[in-house]
Amino acid sequence: MSPLQSPHTWLITGASQGLGLAIAMSALKVGHKVIAGARNTRKAAEEHPELELLGGTIEDLEEPEMHAIMETNFFGPIRVLKGVLPAMRARGSGTIVLIGSTFGFYPCPSCAMYNTSKAAAEMLHETLMKELELFKIRTLIIEPGLFRTNVVTNAPQPVAGFSEPYLGTAIGKSLELVGNILQDPARYMPGDPSKLGDRVVEFVDRSGMAKDVAPRDRLLLGRDAVELYKLKLQSLTEDLEASSQMALSTDYDGHTGQGVSVVANF
Ligand SMILES: NC(=O)c1ccc[n+]([C@@H]2O[C@H](COP(=O)([O-])OP(=O)(O)OC[C@H]3O[C@@H](n4cnc5c(N)ncnc54)[C@H](OP(=O)(O)O)[C@@H]3O)[C@@H](O)[C@H]2O)c1
Repeated sequence: MSPLQSPHTWLITGASQGLGLAIAMSALKVGHKVIAGARNTRKAAEEHPELELLGGTIEDLEEPEMHAIMETNFFGPIRVLKGVLPAMRARGSGTIVLIGSTFGFYPCPSCAMYNTSKAAAEMLHETLMKELELFKIRTLIIEPGLFRTNVVTNAPQPVAGFSEPYLGTAIGKSLELVGNILQDPARYMPGDPSKLGDRVVEFVDRSGMAKDVAPRDRLLLGRDAVELYKLKLQSLTEDLEASSQMALSTDYDGHTGQGVSVVANF
């Protein structure tokens, strides 16, 4: 990547390791300034106490465990946004970038709460796209597949363990995959975080690989992300086609109003 004409300041939360760190390095490489947020700057590499990606069935999860993941992936970022938005709005510029997840769109069995927290964060950011556009604030969503960080190693298991009956189901297969990833990350984790960092910076700056493509709000990263997106989109298209007739049958006879579809014009 070539050095920038006009550097910006990037505030990156969770920049102590993994994707946050990779994005910080990519931003610095092209001349941006980075404010790297880390909750514990002296954290030893072998510690992994966070509740980022909580596996297990919802039957096995205690309510405080469910709250913890929503705090990390949903309410925590909202607090950061509420802190920075007034200044961004007053300035009339800035970009919000959510590191979402393919699993916020295509569900991974055994990760119900993680999937849910990411889906909630994504809908929040899709709403912000509309609400903040007039203030010239861009909102972008990054959808990574599986990238080789400590994300799986760092994921704690439910305190209660796993319910026996689920082990032969999709959850069992998913937990087997987690075991494989932990044993052989090089084989099972295809994504290179430093390349993700470069693509994210290019997407935000509209430089490099993003230079000549039409501006978009969402960026998929990783072959696995592309694959799962296609599957889900196909399934949604089939849902739409299969249910259209029944959907159109439930309005009051003779009613011609647009209902909530009017929001598409807002
Ligand atoms: N890697 C992937 O395959 C992948 C795929 C899709 C989406 N993502 C998303 O990308 C983001 C980064 O993941 P990663 O792969 O880089 O994971 P990671 O290597 O485990 O890094 C997680 C980062 O988040 C911070 N963090 C975790 N819990 C926190 C909390 N409660 N409060 C404040 N900071 C907290 C960690 O700080 P400490 O160093 O202090 O623990 C660390 O900086 C996550 O939102 C993840 O869901 C990752």
